[in-house]
Amino acid sequence: MKARKISQGVYWMGAVDWDRRLFDSLIPLPDGTSYNAYLVQGSEKTALLDTVDPAMADVLLSQLASVPQIDYIVAHHAEQDHSGTIPRVLEMYDGAKVLATPKGKGMLIDLLDVPEDRVIAVQDGEVLSLGDKTLEFIFTPWVHWPETMVTYLQEDRILFSCDFFGSHVATTDLYVTDEARVYEAAKRYYAEIMMPFRKVIQKNLTKIGGREIALIAPSHGPIYNRPSFIIDAYREWISEEPKNIVVLPYISMHGSTGRMVEHLVGALTERGVTVYQFDLAVTDIGKLAMALVDAATIVIGTPTVLVGPHPLVFYATYLANVLRPKLKFASIIGSYSWNSKAVEQIAGLIPNLKVEVLTPVLCKGVPREGDFDALDELAATIAERHKEHNLV
Ligand code: FEO
Repeated sequence: MKARKISQGVYWMGAVDWDRRLFDSLIPLPDGTSYNAYLVQGSEKTALLDTVDPAMADVLLSQLASVPQIDYIVAHHAEQDHSGTIPRVLEMYDGAKVLATPKGKGMLIDLLDVPEDRVIAVQDGEVLSLGDKTLEFIFTPWVHWPETMVTYLQEDRILFSCDFFGSHVATTDLYVTDEARVYEAAKRYYAEIMMPFRKVIQKNLTKIGGREIALIAPSHGPIYNRPSFIIDAYREWISEEPKNIVVLPYISMHGSTGRMVEHLVGALTERGVTVYQFDLAVTDIGKLAMALVDAATIVIGTPTVLVGPHPLVFYATYLANVLRPKLKFASIIGSYSWNSKAVEQIAGLIPNLKVEVLTPVLCKGVPREGDFDALDELAATIAERHKEHNLV
Protein backbone atom coordinates (compact mmCIF):
# COMPACT_ATOMS: atom_id res chain seq x y z
CA MET A 1 0.00 0.00 0.00
CA LYS A 2 1.18 3.52 -0.79
CA ALA A 3 1.48 6.39 1.68
CA ARG A 4 -1.86 8.08 2.40
CA LYS A 5 -2.39 11.78 3.01
CA ILE A 6 -3.93 12.84 6.31
CA SER A 7 -3.43 16.60 6.01
CA GLN A 8 -1.01 18.98 4.30
CA GLY A 9 2.46 17.49 4.86
CA VAL A 10 1.19 14.67 7.07
CA TYR A 11 0.99 11.12 5.75
CA TRP A 12 0.16 7.66 6.98
CA MET A 13 2.86 5.18 6.10
CA GLY A 14 3.27 1.64 7.23
CA ALA A 15 2.10 -1.87 6.63
CA VAL A 16 -1.11 -3.80 7.13
CA ASP A 17 -0.42 -7.31 8.40
CA TRP A 18 -3.57 -9.20 7.47
CA ASP A 19 -2.28 -12.66 8.29
CA ARG A 20 -0.48 -12.26 11.59
CA ARG A 21 -2.26 -14.36 14.19
CA LEU A 22 0.04 -14.17 17.21
CA PHE A 23 1.96 -11.39 18.88
CA ASP A 24 4.94 -11.95 21.16
CA SER A 25 4.30 -15.66 20.52
CA LEU A 26 1.50 -15.25 23.06
CA ILE A 27 -1.28 -12.83 22.16
CA PRO A 28 -3.91 -13.96 19.62
CA LEU A 29 -4.58 -11.50 16.78
CA PRO A 30 -7.89 -12.71 15.30
CA ASP A 31 -8.15 -9.63 13.06
CA GLY A 32 -4.48 -9.21 12.11
CA THR A 33 -2.89 -5.83 12.81
CA SER A 34 -1.12 -2.89 11.24
CA TYR A 35 2.16 -1.13 11.95
CA ASN A 36 1.51 2.55 11.35
CA ALA A 37 4.33 4.98 10.77
CA TYR A 38 3.65 8.64 9.98
CA LEU A 39 5.55 11.19 7.95
CA VAL A 40 5.45 14.87 8.96
CA GLN A 41 7.00 17.23 6.44
CA GLY A 42 7.57 20.75 7.75
CA SER A 43 8.81 23.69 5.71
CA GLU A 44 12.37 23.02 6.94
CA LYS A 45 12.66 19.51 8.34
CA THR A 46 11.00 16.15 7.93
CA ALA A 47 10.25 13.60 10.64
CA LEU A 48 9.24 9.97 10.42
CA LEU A 49 7.23 8.91 13.44
CA ASP A 50 7.92 5.24 14.23
CA THR A 51 8.67 2.53 11.67
CA VAL A 52 7.28 -0.98 11.15
CA ASP A 53 7.88 -4.54 12.20
CA PRO A 54 11.09 -5.79 10.53
CA ALA A 55 9.10 -8.54 8.79
CA MET A 56 7.40 -5.80 6.73
CA ALA A 57 10.33 -3.40 6.42
CA ASP A 58 10.27 -3.50 2.63
CA VAL A 59 6.77 -2.01 2.56
CA LEU A 60 7.89 1.08 4.48
CA LEU A 61 11.15 1.38 2.58
CA SER A 62 9.31 1.41 -0.74
CA GLN A 63 7.01 4.17 0.58
CA LEU A 64 10.08 6.14 1.62
CA ALA A 65 11.69 5.76 -1.81
CA SER A 66 10.04 9.01 -2.91
CA VAL A 67 10.97 10.89 0.28
CA PRO A 68 14.32 12.61 -0.36
CA GLN A 69 15.12 13.60 3.19
CA ILE A 70 14.39 12.38 6.71
CA ASP A 71 15.93 14.51 9.48
CA TYR A 72 14.39 12.82 12.48
CA ILE A 73 12.95 9.42 13.32
CA VAL A 74 10.76 9.72 16.37
CA ALA A 75 10.79 6.42 18.27
CA HIS A 76 7.82 6.51 20.62
CA HIS A 77 8.44 2.97 21.78
CA ALA A 78 11.40 0.62 21.53
CA GLU A 79 9.40 -2.55 20.89
CA GLN A 80 10.40 -4.02 17.57
CA ASP A 81 7.01 -3.81 15.86
CA HIS A 82 7.58 -0.02 15.77
CA SER A 83 11.33 0.38 16.08
CA GLY A 84 12.57 -2.70 14.25
CA THR A 85 13.06 -0.96 10.90
CA ILE A 86 14.90 2.06 12.36
CA PRO A 87 18.36 0.62 11.51
CA ARG A 88 17.38 0.28 7.85
CA VAL A 89 15.90 3.79 7.70
CA LEU A 90 19.10 5.14 9.26
CA GLU A 91 21.07 3.40 6.50
CA MET A 92 18.90 5.14 3.90
CA TYR A 93 19.26 8.62 5.41
CA ASP A 94 22.81 9.37 6.55
CA GLY A 95 21.97 12.53 8.44
CA ALA A 96 18.88 11.28 10.25
CA LYS A 97 18.81 11.21 14.05
CA VAL A 98 16.53 9.12 16.22
CA LEU A 99 14.59 10.93 18.96
CA ALA A 100 13.46 8.96 21.99
CA THR A 101 12.98 9.30 25.74
CA PRO A 102 16.18 8.77 27.76
CA LYS A 103 14.97 5.26 28.65
CA GLY A 104 14.03 4.66 25.03
CA LYS A 105 17.49 5.66 23.88
CA GLY A 106 19.08 2.97 26.03
CA MET A 107 16.60 0.37 24.86
CA LEU A 108 17.13 1.14 21.18
CA ILE A 109 20.86 0.71 21.67
CA ASP A 110 20.37 -2.54 23.62
CA LEU A 111 17.70 -4.10 21.43
CA LEU A 112 18.60 -2.94 17.95
CA ASP A 113 22.25 -1.95 18.13
CA VAL A 114 21.37 1.56 17.00
CA PRO A 115 24.63 3.58 17.15
CA GLU A 116 24.62 5.77 20.24
CA ASP A 117 25.66 8.89 18.33
CA ARG A 118 22.55 8.64 16.16
CA VAL A 119 20.08 8.76 19.04
CA ILE A 120 19.11 11.95 20.85
CA ALA A 121 17.21 11.78 24.13
CA VAL A 122 14.39 14.32 24.31
CA GLN A 123 12.85 15.70 27.48
CA ASP A 124 9.25 15.49 28.60
CA GLY A 125 7.39 18.47 27.12
CA GLU A 126 10.17 19.32 24.69
CA VAL A 127 9.08 20.84 21.40
CA LEU A 128 10.80 20.45 18.05
CA SER A 129 10.18 22.83 15.16
CA LEU A 130 10.13 21.40 11.65
CA GLY A 131 9.53 24.91 10.30
CA ASP A 132 5.82 25.39 9.95
CA LYS A 133 5.06 22.28 11.99
CA THR A 134 5.81 21.73 15.67
CA LEU A 135 6.19 18.40 17.44
CA GLU A 136 5.62 18.27 21.17
CA PHE A 137 6.90 15.18 23.01
CA ILE A 138 4.88 14.00 25.98
CA PHE A 139 6.18 11.16 28.12
CA THR A 140 3.48 8.55 28.71
CA PRO A 141 5.17 5.63 30.46
CA TRP A 142 3.79 2.09 30.41
CA VAL A 143 1.81 2.28 27.20
CA HIS A 144 3.19 -0.19 26.84
CA TRP A 145 6.77 -0.24 28.18
CA PRO A 146 8.36 2.17 30.66
CA GLU A 147 10.05 4.23 27.94
CA THR A 148 6.98 5.18 25.90
CA MET A 149 6.01 8.68 24.80
CA VAL A 150 3.51 10.26 22.42
CA THR A 151 3.85 13.22 20.04
CA TYR A 152 1.38 16.06 19.61
CA LEU A 153 1.54 17.86 16.28
CA GLN A 154 0.42 21.29 17.40
CA GLU A 155 -0.66 22.92 14.12
CA ASP A 156 -2.73 19.93 12.95
CA ARG A 157 -3.89 18.93 16.48
CA ILE A 158 -2.92 15.30 15.86
CA LEU A 159 -1.84 13.05 18.71
CA PHE A 160 0.49 10.27 17.56
CA SER A 161 0.02 7.76 20.31
CA CYS A 162 1.86 4.57 19.24
CA ASP A 163 0.51 1.62 21.28
CA PHE A 164 -1.65 3.92 23.46
CA PHE A 165 -5.25 3.76 22.10
CA GLY A 166 -4.15 1.23 19.47
CA SER A 167 -6.17 -1.69 18.15
CA HIS A 168 -5.02 -4.84 16.44
CA VAL A 169 -7.11 -4.55 13.29
CA ALA A 170 -6.01 -5.08 9.72
CA THR A 171 -8.08 -2.78 7.54
CA THR A 172 -7.87 -0.61 4.45
CA ASP A 173 -9.82 2.10 6.32
CA LEU A 174 -7.56 4.99 7.23
CA TYR A 175 -10.07 6.19 9.83
CA VAL A 176 -12.38 4.29 12.15
CA THR A 177 -15.55 3.44 10.26
CA ASP A 178 -16.94 0.69 12.48
CA GLU A 179 -16.64 1.85 16.08
CA ALA A 180 -18.07 -1.35 17.55
CA ARG A 181 -15.42 -3.45 15.84
CA VAL A 182 -12.59 -1.15 16.81
CA TYR A 183 -13.92 -0.85 20.38
CA GLU A 184 -13.62 -4.60 20.81
CA ALA A 185 -10.14 -4.75 19.25
CA ALA A 186 -8.90 -1.78 21.29
CA LYS A 187 -10.32 -3.26 24.49
CA ARG A 188 -8.62 -6.58 23.76
CA TYR A 189 -5.37 -4.71 23.21
CA TYR A 190 -5.74 -2.68 26.41
CA ALA A 191 -6.58 -5.85 28.35
CA GLU A 192 -3.61 -7.81 27.09
CA ILE A 193 -0.85 -5.27 27.55
CA MET A 194 -1.97 -2.18 29.44
CA MET A 195 -4.38 -3.28 32.14
CA PRO A 196 -1.60 -3.83 34.73
CA PHE A 197 -0.67 -0.12 34.42
CA ARG A 198 -4.14 1.35 35.00
CA LYS A 199 -3.03 3.93 37.51
CA VAL A 200 -0.21 5.24 35.30
CA ILE A 201 -2.60 5.40 32.36
CA GLN A 202 -4.95 7.53 34.45
CA LYS A 203 -2.06 10.01 34.84
CA ASN A 204 -1.21 9.81 31.14
CA LEU A 205 -4.80 10.62 30.21
CA THR A 206 -4.76 13.64 32.50
CA LYS A 207 -1.45 14.71 31.03
CA ILE A 208 -2.65 14.78 27.43
CA GLY A 209 -6.06 16.08 28.48
CA GLY A 210 -5.41 19.82 28.15
CA ARG A 211 -4.85 19.69 24.42
CA GLU A 212 -7.38 20.09 21.68
CA ILE A 213 -7.13 16.84 19.72
CA ALA A 214 -8.64 16.53 16.26
CA LEU A 215 -7.18 13.09 15.46
CA ILE A 216 -5.56 10.30 17.42
CA ALA A 217 -3.18 8.42 15.18
CA PRO A 218 -2.05 5.19 16.87
CA SER A 219 0.56 2.78 15.54
CA HIS A 220 -1.87 -0.13 15.35
CA GLY A 221 -5.30 0.02 13.73
CA PRO A 222 -7.20 2.89 12.15
CA ILE A 223 -6.97 6.60 13.07
CA TYR A 224 -9.62 8.03 15.39
CA ASN A 225 -11.34 11.03 13.82
CA ARG A 226 -13.68 11.08 16.81
CA PRO A 227 -11.07 10.98 19.60
CA SER A 228 -13.65 11.14 22.38
CA PHE A 229 -14.78 7.64 21.37
CA ILE A 230 -11.52 6.00 22.40
CA ILE A 231 -10.68 8.40 25.23
CA ASP A 232 -14.07 7.72 26.86
CA ALA A 233 -13.56 3.99 26.39
CA TYR A 234 -10.19 4.17 28.13
CA ARG A 235 -11.70 6.21 30.96
CA GLU A 236 -14.20 3.44 31.52
CA TRP A 237 -11.62 0.64 31.37
CA ILE A 238 -9.23 2.30 33.82
CA SER A 239 -11.94 3.32 36.28
CA GLU A 240 -11.70 1.72 39.71
CA GLU A 241 -15.25 0.33 39.80
CA PRO A 242 -15.84 -3.14 38.34
CA LYS A 243 -19.21 -4.32 37.05
CA ASN A 244 -21.68 -6.94 38.21
CA ILE A 245 -19.75 -9.62 36.31
CA VAL A 246 -18.23 -12.99 37.15
CA VAL A 247 -15.50 -14.43 34.93
CA LEU A 248 -15.32 -18.20 35.07
CA PRO A 249 -12.31 -19.82 33.38
CA TYR A 250 -12.30 -23.58 33.81
CA ILE A 251 -11.20 -26.97 32.60
CA SER A 252 -13.15 -30.19 32.86
CA MET A 253 -11.54 -33.55 32.12
CA HIS A 254 -14.27 -36.08 32.83
CA GLY A 255 -17.29 -33.83 33.33
CA SER A 256 -17.45 -33.25 37.10
CA THR A 257 -16.02 -29.73 37.07
CA GLY A 258 -18.07 -29.00 33.95
CA ARG A 259 -21.30 -29.90 35.77
CA MET A 260 -20.31 -27.69 38.67
CA VAL A 261 -19.60 -24.81 36.32
CA GLU A 262 -22.93 -25.25 34.61
CA HIS A 263 -24.75 -25.24 37.95
CA LEU A 264 -22.92 -22.19 39.26
CA VAL A 265 -23.49 -20.22 36.05
CA GLY A 266 -27.22 -20.99 36.32
CA ALA A 267 -27.33 -20.02 39.99
CA LEU A 268 -25.52 -16.73 39.36
CA THR A 269 -27.71 -15.89 36.38
CA GLU A 270 -30.84 -16.47 38.45
CA ARG A 271 -29.47 -13.95 40.93
CA GLY A 272 -28.93 -11.27 38.28
CA VAL A 273 -25.17 -11.65 37.90
CA THR A 274 -23.66 -11.65 34.40
CA VAL A 275 -21.23 -14.52 33.81
CA TYR A 276 -18.55 -15.00 31.16
CA GLN A 277 -17.61 -18.68 31.01
CA PHE A 278 -14.37 -19.81 29.33
CA ASP A 279 -13.43 -23.42 28.66
CA LEU A 280 -9.65 -23.06 28.72
CA ALA A 281 -9.24 -26.08 26.45
CA VAL A 282 -10.61 -24.06 23.55
CA THR A 283 -10.82 -20.41 24.57
CA ASP A 284 -9.10 -17.44 23.00
CA ILE A 285 -7.06 -16.11 25.91
CA GLY A 286 -7.59 -12.54 24.63
CA LYS A 287 -11.34 -12.90 25.21
CA LEU A 288 -10.64 -13.93 28.78
CA ALA A 289 -8.37 -10.92 29.27
CA MET A 290 -11.07 -8.65 27.87
CA ALA A 291 -13.69 -10.02 30.24
CA LEU A 292 -11.33 -9.36 33.15
CA VAL A 293 -11.32 -5.62 32.36
CA ASP A 294 -14.77 -5.14 33.92
CA ALA A 295 -15.31 -8.18 36.15
CA ALA A 296 -15.78 -7.94 39.91
CA THR A 297 -15.27 -11.64 40.59
CA ILE A 298 -13.26 -14.51 39.19
CA VAL A 299 -14.22 -18.11 39.88
CA ILE A 300 -11.63 -20.61 38.72
CA GLY A 301 -12.80 -24.11 37.90
CA THR A 302 -10.36 -27.00 37.85
CA PRO A 303 -10.17 -30.75 38.12
CA THR A 304 -7.21 -32.15 40.05
CA VAL A 305 -4.20 -33.32 38.06
CA LEU A 306 -1.34 -34.86 40.02
CA VAL A 307 -2.70 -33.28 43.22
CA GLY A 308 -2.75 -29.73 41.79
CA PRO A 309 -4.83 -27.73 39.30
CA HIS A 310 -4.87 -28.55 35.60
CA PRO A 311 -1.83 -26.96 33.85
CA LEU A 312 -4.08 -24.80 31.65
CA VAL A 313 -5.66 -23.44 34.82
CA PHE A 314 -2.18 -22.62 36.13
CA TYR A 315 -1.55 -20.70 32.93
CA ALA A 316 -4.81 -18.73 33.01
CA THR A 317 -4.47 -17.98 36.72
CA TYR A 318 -0.91 -16.76 36.22
CA LEU A 319 -2.14 -14.51 33.43
CA ALA A 320 -4.98 -13.10 35.53
CA ASN A 321 -2.51 -12.39 38.31
CA VAL A 322 -0.05 -10.47 36.10
CA LEU A 323 -2.79 -8.51 34.35
CA ARG A 324 -3.91 -7.14 37.76
CA PRO A 325 -7.57 -6.57 36.86
CA LYS A 326 -9.81 -4.64 39.25
CA LEU A 327 -11.35 -7.80 40.72
CA LYS A 328 -12.73 -7.66 44.24
CA PHE A 329 -13.60 -11.31 44.86
CA ALA A 330 -12.29 -14.74 43.90
CA SER A 331 -13.22 -18.33 44.45
CA ILE A 332 -12.33 -21.80 43.24
CA ILE A 333 -14.52 -24.73 42.31
CA GLY A 334 -13.54 -28.16 41.08
CA SER A 335 -13.17 -31.83 41.69
CA TYR A 336 -10.72 -34.52 42.71
CA SER A 337 -10.59 -38.27 42.97
CA TRP A 338 -8.42 -39.03 46.01
CA ASN A 339 -6.55 -35.89 47.13
CA SER A 340 -6.15 -32.28 46.05
CA LYS A 341 -4.01 -29.27 46.81
CA ALA A 342 -5.62 -27.34 43.94
CA VAL A 343 -7.15 -24.66 46.17
CA GLU A 344 -3.92 -23.91 48.03
CA GLN A 345 -1.89 -23.89 44.82
CA ILE A 346 -4.28 -21.57 42.97
CA ALA A 347 -4.49 -19.24 45.98
CA GLY A 348 -0.70 -19.05 45.91
CA LEU A 349 -0.76 -17.93 42.28
CA ILE A 350 -2.74 -14.73 42.78
CA PRO A 351 -0.75 -12.48 45.15
CA ASN A 352 -1.33 -9.43 42.90
CA LEU A 353 -5.09 -9.71 43.11
CA LYS A 354 -6.37 -7.74 46.09
CA VAL A 355 -9.43 -9.91 46.44
CA GLU A 356 -11.55 -11.41 49.16
CA VAL A 357 -11.43 -15.17 48.63
CA LEU A 358 -14.91 -16.67 48.98
CA THR A 359 -15.28 -20.22 50.26
CA PRO A 360 -14.19 -22.68 47.54
CA VAL A 361 -16.28 -25.70 46.57
CA LEU A 362 -14.37 -28.87 45.77
CA CYS A 363 -16.18 -32.15 45.30
CA LYS A 364 -14.86 -35.70 45.53
CA GLY A 365 -15.81 -37.62 42.38
CA VAL A 366 -19.02 -36.50 40.73
CA PRO A 367 -20.88 -33.54 42.26
CA ARG A 368 -23.81 -34.49 44.50
CA GLU A 369 -26.65 -32.65 46.19
CA GLY A 370 -24.43 -31.22 48.94
CA ASP A 371 -21.98 -29.88 46.35
CA PHE A 372 -24.74 -28.20 44.37
CA ASP A 373 -26.07 -26.66 47.60
CA ALA A 374 -22.58 -25.29 48.27
CA LEU A 375 -22.48 -23.82 44.77
CA ASP A 376 -25.87 -22.16 45.37
CA GLU A 377 -24.45 -20.69 48.55
CA LEU A 378 -21.39 -19.41 46.67
CA ALA A 379 -23.64 -17.80 44.04
CA ALA A 380 -25.72 -16.16 46.75
CA THR A 381 -22.60 -14.81 48.46
CA ILE A 382 -21.24 -13.39 45.20
CA ALA A 383 -24.57 -11.73 44.35
CA GLU A 384 -24.75 -10.30 47.86
CA ARG A 385 -21.19 -8.91 47.75
CA HIS A 386 -21.85 -7.31 44.36
CA LYS A 387 -25.00 -5.71 45.73
CA GLU A 388 -23.16 -4.42 48.79
CA HIS A 389 -20.71 -2.68 46.43
CA ASN A 390 -23.56 -1.29 44.31
CA LEU A 391 -22.18 -2.96 41.20
CA VAL A 392 -24.30 -2.69 38.10
FE1 FEO B 1 2.99 -2.29 19.37
FE2 FEO B 1 4.35 -2.52 22.49
O1 FEO B 1 4.31 -2.60 20.64
